[in-house]
Amino acid sequence: MTNNWKSIWLKKGQNVLEKDDSLTLRELLKADGFDSVGAGDLTEESWKAFVDFIIQKMEIDSSTQLLEVGCGAGAFLFPIYQKGAKVFGIDYSDTLVNIAKHAMPLGEFKVAEANLIPFDNDQFDVVLSFGVFIYFPTLEYAENVIAEISRVLVKGGKAAILDVNDAKKKQLFFDIRTAEIGEEKYREKYDAYPHMFYEKQWFLDICKKLGLKATIEDQRIENYGNAKFRFNVYIEN
Ligand SMILES: C[S@@+](CC[C@H](N)C(=O)[O-])C[C@H]1O[C@@H](n2cnc3c(N)ncnc32)[C@H](O)[C@@H]1O
Repeated sequence: MTNNWKSIWLKKGQNVLEKDDSLTLRELLKADGFDSVGAGDLTEESWKAFVDFIIQKMEIDSSTQLLEVGCGAGAFLFPIYQKGAKVFGIDYSDTLVNIAKHAMPLGEFKVAEANLIPFDNDQFDVVLSFGVFIYFPTLEYAENVIAEISRVLVKGGKAAILDVNDAKKKQLFFDIRTAEIGEEKYREKYDAYPHMFYEKQWFLDICKKLGLKATIEDQRIENYGNAKFRFNVYIEN
């Protein structure tokens, strides 16, 4: 099946840097697509509450070496950066990476594909990836990304692959999304832009194969429409 997502992400946020110097979380969320179909009534407060939950869960502090794979404009990293952490990010969209650089001048951002992370082995204490695995072309690609995440993580490091579509809830995904904009419009808009769905067991099996410990929890962001059919994978190296 054709996967044209990259062309969408390359165009996202094109005018953001022309308009304003000091970027807000709201603008970063919009550039990262959290204003479109599926986001529901997501607020900055509920977003920040979830980021805080991840900060606690992954034990992130100002000494943590932290990477996000598929960081986009940096909506997820921004609240962490604002708390004083040094953040690193990679994304295949140069437009979005430029916004992230602008929003977080002390961060380090590179344009790269998620399956070829341009950092050394054992470099990060924590690796995150929010809302990215759903855009991958194949399961094989996704497996290579997990292997890359494991390679750049220190021994004992933690990773979180967040906001993954649950294969068991695929029908619910379509029911909710087509109800929002109508079936015809939905198909017109998204036929060339398929989302990936994953079995939870697939993640558990791949992590086991790579020698990683994994646990899975359903998504828990308030007012976020996609939460109904998404889950989060927590990994220990
Ligand atoms: C929904 S946005 C999320 C951005 C960011 N993680 C956040 O939560 O704010 C999805 C991001 O994944 C990136 N992406 C998708 N597939 C990718 C791939 N194969 N390699 C690198 N980046 C990818 C897109 O460019 C986009 O920035």
